[in-house]
Amino acid sequence: MLRFHGDREVAPGLVDLAVNVRQEAPPAWLMGPVTASLAHLGAYPDPAEATAAIAARHGRPPEEVLLTSGAAQAFVLVAQALRPERAVVVHPQFTEPEAALVTAGHAVERVVLRESDGFRLRGGQIPETADLVVIGNPTNPTSVLHEATDLARLTRPGRVTVVDEAFADTVPGEPESLAGARDLPGLLVIRSLTKTWGLAGLRIGYVLGPAPLLDRLHEHAPLWSVSTPALAAAIACASERAVHTEREIAVRLVADRAHLVAALERAGVPVAGRPASSFVLIRVDDGERVRAALRERGFAVRRGETFPGLGQDWLRIAVRDTATSDAFVAVLSEVLGR
Ligand SMILES: Cc1ncc(COP(=O)(O)O)c(C=O)c1O
Repeated sequence: MLRFHGDREVAPGLVDLAVNVRQEAPPAWLMGPVTASLAHLGAYPDPAEATAAIAARHGRPPEEVLLTSGAAQAFVLVAQALRPERAVVVHPQFTEPEAALVTAGHAVERVVLRESDGFRLRGGQIPETADLVVIGNPTNPTSVLHEATDLARLTRPGRVTVVDEAFADTVPGEPESLAGARDLPGLLVIRSLTKTWGLAGLRIGYVLGPAPLLDRLHEHAPLWSVSTPALAAAIACASERAVHTEREIAVRLVADRAHLVAALERAGVPVAGRPASSFVLIRVDDGERVRAALRERGFAVRRGETFPGLGQDWLRIAVRDTATSDAFVAVLSEVLGR
């Protein structure tokens, strides 16, 4: 079940609380260049300008940026390019990194974070001899934000540490991001432009890290794997305007999430950990029945049991506008008989 994702929960007529992609249409300053790029589809894409723009946005030289067809492709490149002897994936987290490693023939060891720890990493949980470690920050599906210093402590010579920051831009100011950290050995930071910007169908993401490591990943990338419209989006999303807008969106998200969490708590529904991203993880009794009843009443939520370390009683809920959250919690309360 590692290859199950939230989009499978969605169906026509259902309110989508299962996919963590922002639903508002991308702004005109972003869609303008994407649309304009369609006039140039006769030429093969050249990633140089977009690579330089993303590099500047993170204060790095262009050699430390590899554009990918979404963050999803980055996991495949990591799995294909590296030959880890002891690969460790920290769960619960997005399952594609493990799926890609297994598909590439690597054995994967799981470190499963505990609910009793608020799904946070404790010191000493990662085996010293791990030469590849994958962790999400903030983490899907727990919405937990690890401290940058704790993640930095995982890095060392002889180990590749992959931090999946697909949702980093949902945190105002990105205080725990390692995107600009150039001095940590073997650190690869994977980013996505599909979530906040509502571009899941366009496929655009990137990897930040030491140039020699990115060169190895690049060797496994298909030629021209990032399309011209995706490159146009990357350039637009690296602009000062984009970074400013991203932060405004993140601040609004904090308020919308607080509203959802408060409503859930009033309904007596426990929320896991201290949520920091665009989704929250809840626990209910008889989760499978609850999820089915929510569907019957028009709400698609993300099941928890396909995430290692969780089970059927866990459900992931996307943060939407307050009216949608209120409507959802009212229906959930009804389903729970409260
Ligand atoms: C934590 C996490 N990382 C990466 C991805 C993949 O993102 P992209 O759309 O950029 O491939 C997802 C998508 O759901 C995700 O949840």
